[in-house]
Amino acid sequence: MLRDIIHKGKEKEMDNLALFGGKPVRTTPFLDWPKAGKGDLEALKRALEAGSWGGHPEPNTEAAAFAEKFAARHDMKYGICMNTGTEANRISMRSAGLKPGQEVIIPSYNWISPITSVTTCGGDPVVVDIDPDTHLMDLTLLEAALSDKTAGVVSMHYTGRIVPPEPILEFCKKHNLFYVEDCAQAHGGRWKGKAVGSFGDAAAFSFQASKILTAGEGGFVGTNNLEIANRAHAMVDNNRQKPWFTEEIRFPEVTNSRMSEFLAALLSSQLTRLDEEQVIRQKNARLLHDFMSEIPDVGSLEPVQDETTPAYWKFVITLGEPLAGISKDVFLRALMAEGIPAEPGHVPVHIHPRTTLSRDNWILVSRQEGRGAKSLPVVEHLATRVHVWLPHGILLGSEKDMEDIATAVRKVRDGMLGVNNKESTELAKTTRQVWYESAEV
Ligand SMILES: Cc1ncc(COP(=O)(O)O)c(C=O)c1O
Repeated sequence: MLRDIIHKGKEKEMDNLALFGGKPVRTTPFLDWPKAGKGDLEALKRALEAGSWGGHPEPNTEAAAFAEKFAARHDMKYGICMNTGTEANRISMRSAGLKPGQEVIIPSYNWISPITSVTTCGGDPVVVDIDPDTHLMDLTLLEAALSDKTAGVVSMHYTGRIVPPEPILEFCKKHNLFYVEDCAQAHGGRWKGKAVGSFGDAAAFSFQASKILTAGEGGFVGTNNLEIANRAHAMVDNNRQKPWFTEEIRFPEVTNSRMSEFLAALLSSQLTRLDEEQVIRQKNARLLHDFMSEIPDVGSLEPVQDETTPAYWKFVITLGEPLAGISKDVFLRALMAEGIPAEPGHVPVHIHPRTTLSRDNWILVSRQEGRGAKSLPVVEHLATRVHVWLPHGILLGSEKDMEDIATAVRKVRDGMLGVNNKESTELAKTTRQVWYESAEV
């Protein structure tokens, strides 16, 4: 048993941990997500009574209205609604020019679909490591990742932290590549005042239930390029030719990925709250950053430089060496036992148990080994040892909520480091990384 393994010494702090029967810091629930609000019912009723519930004719009334507003909020001219963010991944890359047999440079610290979408398009993912300083896609690896088959770069604004666009745009311009931003975790975010999504050729968003803007499911491709927008419309709608198309646009893969009018109506209503919720999240996140900086051996990922509006899909706690050396899994479970809904975060996609069937042609790129690397040491370390997530819903709560989180983190840190060195090593060896092995994420 875990407790027996750790606790031969019976340190007092350890006894207090809720994981081992102590009193939890928090027994009342935090705010939940998704959250219904003012105007949602009316929006759904409007779609219901309009009588045309589906996505045909594409774009239907609610989808067109939402797409226009959402694109404008993200400094883009054109927007196309669809059924999922996974489809937005596939359609954004394909519309931006990806062809079978080509390669796409993409970070491993990611949800699985941006990378498996490359394979779905018949391409090969060139999966790069993470920068040890920014904890985002390692932009120093772009040149090493390049080959004569490279079609483009797909970045991912991890947990809402914006990947600085300038080096990517420069690289893409130099080599004539497309740049697609995956914005599924960064709705509403701004970098130097400019909205995410508007930096590259196209952007993919998800409105799945955990996202900052959600209708339960849904996806969106945004762009400032009319030709890309037209291709995306064709892909969403079975290659159907629109009267307003400027050219004949056809893809061999013919699919229906349209969004229902109910989702679009709900999204329009939820969008009216995005900016005010963003302000509350930022205020509470600031408090949490300050609290975390006061706890030894613990930190948090601050917004990146020049990020003028951080999105905070997740608040990322970072574990210092002494805690990471024991076990992120124990820290996580101890924190959850204290009543804090902490999460393990992404399993790097190149070692994710559910991508094994599609990994044959993936190419890895690391600082140590360059293109053709066998492992990606930075992301493997950060993901399995260092990062612990808090979901954004709780950032809409009170100052007292943030204090409870900090109290629990402090308590778990003190409790875990109450274990003596020999036992810590024993614990690290014997604790299963439950999250990592099952990847129920
Ligand atoms: C970065 C990223 N891209 C794409 C997706 C896929 O979105 P969906 O779940 O709507 O298919 C998600 C999340 O689910 C994501 O986090």
